Amino acid sequence: MAPRSLIIDTDPGQDDAVAIMLALGRPDAVEVLGLTAVAGNVPLHLTVPNCLRLLELAGRTDVPVFAGAAAPLVVPLVTAEHVHGATGLDGWDFPDPVTPVRPEFAPDWIVEAVMSRPPKTVTLVPLGPLTNIALALAKEPRLAQRLERIVLMGGASIEGGNITPTAEFNIFVDPHAAARVFRSGAEIVVLSLDATHQAQITRPWLDVMRALDSKVGVAFEGLLSFYERFDTEKYGTEGGPLHDPMTVAWILAPELFEGLHLNVEVETTPGLCFGQTVVDRWKVTDRRPNATWITKLDSPKVFDLILDAFRRLA
Ligand code: BDR
Ligand code: CA
Repeated sequence: MAPRSLIIDTDPGQDDAVAIMLALGRPDAVEVLGLTAVAGNVPLHLTVPNCLRLLELAGRTDVPVFAGAAAPLVVPLVTAEHVHGATGLDGWDFPDPVTPVRPEFAPDWIVEAVMSRPPKTVTLVPLGPLTNIALALAKEPRLAQRLERIVLMGGASIEGGNITPTAEFNIFVDPHAAARVFRSGAEIVVLSLDATHQAQITRPWLDVMRALDSKVGVAFEGLLSFYERFDTEKYGTEGGPLHDPMTVAWILAPELFEGLHLNVEVETTPGLCFGQTVVDRWKVTDRRPNATWITKLDSPKVFDLILDAFRRLA
């Protein structure tokens, strides 16, 4: 089968970085058409060079990088340096990137890239706030039907929030954008905290990553050791959850996941529940199902899948 085409929208972020490498390590299954950067974990002036740094590390400067939105649609930007460090990629010293960013605005390029290809052949993989995706949908609403699907990391229901008691970071940062995406009519698969909290990094897994003894393996052992220190303290677990790569893992091996087709709405009213994903798990409303909410994943097999991809990278 020909590789599936992906556009990864991202705010790297160490876990974003793993998702990008997972995709780049599997050219047999997926082709990364481009990376679109958004403000999120750190501001846009850092997420753009971070995308370039990761592609240079992987030796894949043929993949174009586009800069998108520097701020959410309505509310001021909230960032997460407390998790990811001041650079967004603390834990490894990257050289400054030399590859140029492309001149097109990311949402414009997303529209152009998807609409110029045959219907249902491109999957969008948002790993940060949904600002770029909402702007692309505002420019071209037919995008929703033209996409194969959107496979995103964001939201929380049973697990509760990680930035407020009810909200997950990516949705909280730009809930107005998220509301637009969930109402767009696109087919959506959601890897929320309900799923990603089942994917805990472990020290033995990081040791195998380091023992790969490749440039990428050594760098990622450093990045992820930094990244998980915050969550292990917060949750009192052995390792932190590896959120963003679960999207690409679902694309590569959906049989490792279980989910429910249901309705998701996003709370945009200011207050305690601002940015919450309101998930109608038991179908207590007559709101139309608009997303597949992943409820379960096979963590050991997913972590094997990631290591297998990293083995294929230099
Ligand atoms: C999400 O927030 C970010 O900090 C991570 O990169 C991930 O996309 C988890 O809530
Ligand atoms: Ca992210």
